[in-house]
Amino acid sequence: MNRIFSGVQPTGNLHLGNYLGAIRNWVKLQDRFECIYCIVDMHAITVWQDPAQLRAQTREVAAAFLAAGIDADRHIVFNQSQVPAHAQLAWVFNCVARIGWLNRMTQFKEKAGKDRENASAGLYVYPNLMAADILAYKATHVPVGEDQKQHLELARDIAQKFNNDYEVDFFPLPEPQILGTATRVMSLRDGAKKMSKSDPSDYSRINMTDDADTVALKIRKAKTDPNPLPGPEVLRADGTVDPGAESARPEAFNLLGIYAALADKPARAVLDEFAGQEFSAFKRALTDLAVATLGEMGGEMKRLLAEPGHVDSVLRQGAERARAIAGPIMAEVEDIVGYLRP
Ligand code: TRP
Repeated sequence: MNRIFSGVQPTGNLHLGNYLGAIRNWVKLQDRFECIYCIVDMHAITVWQDPAQLRAQTREVAAAFLAAGIDADRHIVFNQSQVPAHAQLAWVFNCVARIGWLNRMTQFKEKAGKDRENASAGLYVYPNLMAADILAYKATHVPVGEDQKQHLELARDIAQKFNNDYEVDFFPLPEPQILGTATRVMSLRDGAKKMSKSDPSDYSRINMTDDADTVALKIRKAKTDPNPLPGPEVLRADGTVDPGAESARPEAFNLLGIYAALADKPARAVLDEFAGQEFSAFKRALTDLAVATLGEMGGEMKRLLAEPGHVDSVLRQGAERARAIAGPIMAEVEDIVGYLRP
């Protein structure tokens, strides 16, 4: 059976962008794949993390997964550091990947910024650890966003080079799993900026922990423009919104996109529904929809976080099952590379 692996870093609060861009898709994949969802705390520490915060955010991501509908009984949810194979295989991959390959990674350049000499060595080999995450389970499919495609390509290169160097047909070459059009969620205060956990204004984003009242308030305050809502005339032949129309009214199209994603409807249906209406009417509909889905999820997250013992036991059991898969694969790798295990 095909196996999905994906990871999310436990850094910063999860918001609507994370939900619509990633987590919601992970929920859908559960029916078609065996899924392994990992909270990558080892990746997180490639840049400084306060220890207490890291623990709290690891639990928060786990609670978000469960509240969003990831079934930790049928699938596996765990945090990376509880499974030694990730670090063990990453070391082997540090020796397989070439420095030239890592030097081409655009995310390292972005994250290291100007002071590259001062970046952690971990940040540099980050993509090798990511390859180890995926390949420790011989995962065949990886749902990733645009920003992680280069890392997934590298994981394929590493798998291929390992197989070639050791003359084995051991690792599969993992494929990106693209699910429809990813929803790009923009700031509620400025439709030209991505919704982000680092925006100083909390009104710019809807957090997954926001309760119904907070969700409603943030939508009420969301920036709009003075014109009535556009209709289907802004669509191109392929059903996507004309980029010119979108950039002229970024806030309007952001809210319409959020509505379409939450309602699970194509853009055309939403444009047909609201064409020519005032924002006030549209915002009422959006609020009802958002409160129904997100408000409930936020409430469930709060309940879960009030019971950290339960979340911890889900992660502990997930890690146990993850070790049962990755351990034997790692043992084979040790044989293949020639580690003596007397
Ligand atoms: N690098 C990914 C991100 O920041 C997280 C990640 C780590 C991941 N390991 C992974 C994603 C394995 C997919 C598969 O979003």
